[in-house]
Amino acid sequence: MVEAAILTDGESAAAGLRAEVSGAVLTLTLDRPERRNAMTGRTWRTLAHVGQSLPASVRIVVIKGAGPSFSSGIDLDMFSPEGVEGEPPLMGRLTGGPEDGAALDADIADYQQGFLWLRRPDIVSIAAVRGHAIGAGFQLALSCDIRVLADDARFCMKEPALGLVPDLTGTKPLVDIVGVNRAIELCLTARTVSAREARELRLAELVVDGADLDGAVDDLVAALLAVPAEAAAATKELLQQAAGSGLAEQAERERRAQIGRLTALARAAAG
Ligand code: CAA
Repeated sequence: MVEAAILTDGESAAAGLRAEVSGAVLTLTLDRPERRNAMTGRTWRTLAHVGQSLPASVRIVVIKGAGPSFSSGIDLDMFSPEGVEGEPPLMGRLTGGPEDGAALDADIADYQQGFLWLRRPDIVSIAAVRGHAIGAGFQLALSCDIRVLADDARFCMKEPALGLVPDLTGTKPLVDIVGVNRAIELCLTARTVSAREARELRLAELVVDGADLDGAVDDLVAALLAVPAEAAAATKELLQQAAGSGLAEQAERERRAQIGRLTALARAAAG
């Protein structure tokens, strides 16, 4: 049962995004199925707003798409000279002056905020992907901690084929997961990766029959919620730091985190 809506109906409609909180779970649904859940700058600004307004009770964020696709990526109208309603155009204002670049940099930085918060240690983010996840859609799935795929899921980093680069925080997780060589091959061919290959490349933690996607996500959410929140957050933070740390530094972080946990447990036991 939905207990709270973070967005007004008007905000949801303008962004093509529904945000529903039920207990400790926030479900975000990309909701423009007639455009295969194409996203605009408004979608990403609204995603950022959701991240900033997250109730403290939320521990899990599930992102899915309405209809047959997860997301067809950026709304291609964003590249028209007029852009899309309510957003500064991406192309139409570029006259070559230095001020153009600064304004665009600020806009893209705002868009990236819609993706960055999904890594927060106090939540676990799950992408539930059916059908296509293209460009920004793939980057959104890459921003999540765990990807659960229906067997018809398809990933594609389309940006280079359009003369662009992936700029919505997807390049780092992609390289972290598949390595730089495979990332170069995937991005510079802009080819489509099937669910089966995604599992082989570790781009999917789980691949299930399409009919089982919701159930598999529900089971995963239940398992994640069975672990105490503070221990989960401290562990996620440690794991995120591990790849960029030396062994001695990471071992020290483990000790510090464990002392924090043991102190909290001892205090709780003492009442
Ligand atoms: N933007 C705007 N409209 C889109 C769209 C998009 N990204 N993707 C699909 N649509 C529209 C189609 O134009 C079509 O509209 P009409 O019904 O009015 O004709 C409707 O959605 C349904 O699309 P299809 O009939 O093509 O549906 P499909 O299921 O056969 O195919 C698809 C789905 C594979 C996603 C295909 O629509 C497609 O390839 N879309 C374009 C994908 C794309 O190039 N995205 C941009 C990637 S780059 C990026 O995202 C990041 C960046 O910053 C540059």
